[in-house]
Amino acid sequence: AIDPNFEQNREQVGEEDGVAVWGPVEPPEKQGIRGTHVAVDFDICLADGACLEDCPVDVFEWVDTPGHSESERKANPADEDQCIDCMLCVDVCPVDAIDVDPG
Ligand code: SF4
Ligand code: F3S
Repeated sequence: AIDPNFEQNREQVGEEDGVAVWGPVEPPEKQGIRGTHVAVDFDICLADGACLEDCPVDVFEWVDTPGHSESERKANPADEDQCIDCMLCVDVCPVDAIDVDPG
C-alpha cells in the first residue's frame, strides 16, 4: 500500500503537469508517487481504473508509463485541487495505491 507518510519519507524531485513527483524516480521501473493532497503510488497502481470511473469530480487522468512492470498506464491526480475528500478512490482501489489527506 502507499505510504501515508510519504511527505516525510520521500523527497519531492519535481513536478509534472502541475502534479508533484515524489521520488525515487528511475524510469521505467521506478515511477514514484504523484500528487500531494491526492497521492497515487505509480509503482503500486496497476491501472484498475476504478478511481477514474468513480471520482465524482474527475480528479484522475491516464498517463502512459511504458515499460513499468505493474502496468503501462497510471492514474495521475491531475486535478487534485478539485478533490472534495469523499474518499471513494481510496476505498475502491484494489491495491491501495491512493492516499487522500484532507488535512
Ligand atoms: Fe475524487 Fe473523492 Fe478521491 Fe477526492 S477523495 S480524488 S473527490 S474520489
Ligand atoms: Fe490505479 Fe488503483 Fe486507480 S490501481 S487506476 S490507482 S483504482
